[in-house]
Amino acid sequence: MRVLIIGANGLIGRQTARHLAEEECGSLILADCVPATPPAGARIPVECRVGDFCDTDFARDLLQGVDCVFHLAALLATESEADLRRGMSVNVAGLMQLLMLCEELPRPPKLLYASSVAAFGGPLPETVDDDVARTPQTSYGTHKAIAELLIDDYTRRGLVDGRVLRLPIVLVRNGPPSNAVSDRVAALIREPVMGKDVTCGLRPETRMSITSAHHAATAFQRLASVDAAAFRHTRAMNLPSLSVTAAELAERRSAALRCRPKAASFGHPTRHCRPWSMAGRAGLPRRMPVPSGWGRETPSTTSSPVSSPRTDCADVADT
Ligand SMILES: NC(=O)c1ccc[n+]([C@@H]2O[C@H](COP(=O)([O-])OP(=O)(O)OC[C@H]3O[C@@H](n4cnc5c(N)ncnc54)[C@H](O)[C@@H]3O)[C@@H](O)[C@H]2O)c1
Repeated sequence: MRVLIIGANGLIGRQTARHLAEEECGSLILADCVPATPPAGARIPVECRVGDFCDTDFARDLLQGVDCVFHLAALLATESEADLRRGMSVNVAGLMQLLMLCEELPRPPKLLYASSVAAFGGPLPETVDDDVARTPQTSYGTHKAIAELLIDDYTRRGLVDGRVLRLPIVLVRNGPPSNAVSDRVAALIREPVMGKDVTCGLRPETRMSITSAHHAATAFQRLASVDAAAFRHTRAMNLPSLSVTAAELAERRSAALRCRPKAASFGHPTRHCRPWSMAGRAGLPRRMPVPSGWGRETPSTTSSPVSSPRTDCADVADT
């Protein structure tokens, strides 16, 4: 089998490449506009391709002979909100072109796609399961909802074999802090691990759903192997995730790092965790603009090939 990962240099792409390279899956193509590095100790041939998947010739060439595509390239929430046109061209037009190029292939490929819980929004029930109506409140969430519908329709027509996971916030992103919503949550774990202070722009009681890149990649791998007959009326489903408050995340992180218990208490500045009330003074909004819906539990009702064993906060730091 020939497997293509688009967005292979990203947080989830790198983890997915690592998982697939350990399987004897045939061969792997890692595509990204930034050069991706083949996973160490890969047991299969790995080819790296650099280019923009929105470029028709590049995308057509990438797809030649491919049986399975993991489409993980996107403009994330903050950038899509800041630049509507760019977000549309990568997240919507890029996907539409990919689907049309799949039509040209002799066999419909499997298409694994990373959607987001940002496809949900507005007033939501306490538990947001797979079938809650998608009423996104951001451009990024709207792009994801459009993508889910298009992949369902292309699957219904037998042009691709689509499989879509709605991911919660995926932790832990390495590298310098960025403006991404998920990165501000990731900073709660990443910065103290690096021995740095972190100022949290979230209220301690803000509840959100999270998972690790490791669990997301494992779930994608399982989803790729599920029999097509096992799906219901849609190929989109939530990734069952951990529901946690910002305060709980910081506390468990401190416990995992064996910090003194006070490191996670909100009233006591320590080396690792400044009090939450300082966020405003540091120029950060007191409340991060988390798209509505992110603070709810998101179980999957599909008896799930992607359900993972109970996740613990400490697991989230395992990437
Ligand atoms: N990280 C999260 O918390 C999260 C949550 C929900 C959904 N998702 C979705 O999961 C997928 C992967 O997310 P991630 O966190 O790994 O993102 P990321 O930004 O870390 O990685 C995306 C990769 O795609 C590449 N890319 C972007 N546009 C490209 C283009 N036009 N051509 C080629 N490569 C391009 C980037 O260079 C980057 O390496 C995305 O679809 C994202 O929307 C992520």
